[in-house]
Amino acid sequence: MTIPTAPAPAPLPVQPPTGCPFDPPAAFDALRTEQPISKISLPDGSWAWLATRYHDIRAILGDTRFSSDTTLHGYPLSGMTGGGNTQNRGFIRRDPPEHTRLRRMVTREFMVKRVEALRPEIQRITDELCDAMERDGGPVDLVEALALPVPSLVISLLLGVPYDDHEVFQRLTGTLLSRTVADEEREAARIELRDYLDRLVTAKEAAPGDDILGRLITEQQQTGEITHDEVAAFAALLLIAGHETTANMIGLSALTLMRDPESAERLRRDPGLIRGAVEELLRFHSIIRNGPRRVATTDIEIDGHLIRAGEGVVAAVPSANRDEAVFPDADRLDITRPNAQHHVAFGYGIHQCLGQALARVELQVVLATLLRRFPAMRPAVPVDEIPFRTDMAIYGCHALPVTW
Ligand code: HEM
Repeated sequence: MTIPTAPAPAPLPVQPPTGCPFDPPAAFDALRTEQPISKISLPDGSWAWLATRYHDIRAILGDTRFSSDTTLHGYPLSGMTGGGNTQNRGFIRRDPPEHTRLRRMVTREFMVKRVEALRPEIQRITDELCDAMERDGGPVDLVEALALPVPSLVISLLLGVPYDDHEVFQRLTGTLLSRTVADEEREAARIELRDYLDRLVTAKEAAPGDDILGRLITEQQQTGEITHDEVAAFAALLLIAGHETTANMIGLSALTLMRDPESAERLRRDPGLIRGAVEELLRFHSIIRNGPRRVATTDIEIDGHLIRAGEGVVAAVPSANRDEAVFPDADRLDITRPNAQHHVAFGYGIHQCLGQALARVELQVVLATLLRRFPAMRPAVPVDEIPFRTDMAIYGCHALPVTW
């Protein structure tokens, strides 16, 4: 174990309450140039390394000597939300060989081909929600009317979770991911979600359906590969990882295009540009604002710095994606940027986002539909009155009032 050394490092930069709501903390720019591997203090008084350059972050996330196991001594849990539970944690918080074994059980569910086959269904869900918005006439909160329900409906459908329960999920995952709720409240939400999923898996054991949980039960649980609790842990991971992230990307991206009529018009004229535009929006927004995080399992040198076994690392993905060395004019949104798809918004290495193909299709369908059906959509309040999620681990807007 390494004892923190004086002087005390600066805290992890977080989203400033003022300034451009789309930009990552300005402190990252200076750190990338002057101190790309630096020490930061965490809320509980411990410290971790902060990596801010694209190449260093890929080196760290691509190196399995850096562990994702939150139960290991030195893992920088402090100030990180939603990931602290050590019991029955999903494979996102495990290392090989366990990570490999578990991830493999659901890989095919999220392959590009499988996800592309869902496109018509995602379009149908989106169209129905847009019909409801049109009937309402506006103004509406786009987060509530579209951004949250689309990914929530899609992941509930894939897992076989009854849609009637989606409000429970949004409340519980919101609490789990909040930076401001008290520890007791977060713990209560975790227990409530665990109990719900436990009941759901029990119901599915009696009648497994044609869905991800049903297949996990018949192919893995009934053959003795995994337990009832592990099926429930899969459900928890996929539900939480699968809807809050995409929902926030939808909200932020829609707002960005409302404020950038030139890009919006190009996309309306040439819908084929939407795939590249989504990559650029993922790069530009990098909604995972304080991670991913790792702990070194052995002494490792990164860019001339010795990171010792047991020391924690925060890989600042939003900073990597604004690294001028890789993305020239990085603070500008350019929907035809040639290398936008090299962003690390989905992470990098063995833990790279399992649901990325799904997130991409959801974003492509929702944004293209909004541009086509609501060409005059605009924020219904001044931008400085939009409540941005400066208090959450996943950045976005709490609400986005729009009119058209
Ligand atoms: C992992 C981002 C959507 C499921 C990750 C990681 C990132 C990320 C950065 C890496 C975490 C790490 O290295 O520790 C995002 C973003 C999304 C999104 C920005 C939306 C725009 C989704 C969706 C699903 C999903 C729709 C669907 C189920 C997962 C899972 C992992 C993961 C299961 C863990 C993978 C592993 O540990 O092997 N995501 N994600 N994500 N994501 Fe996503």
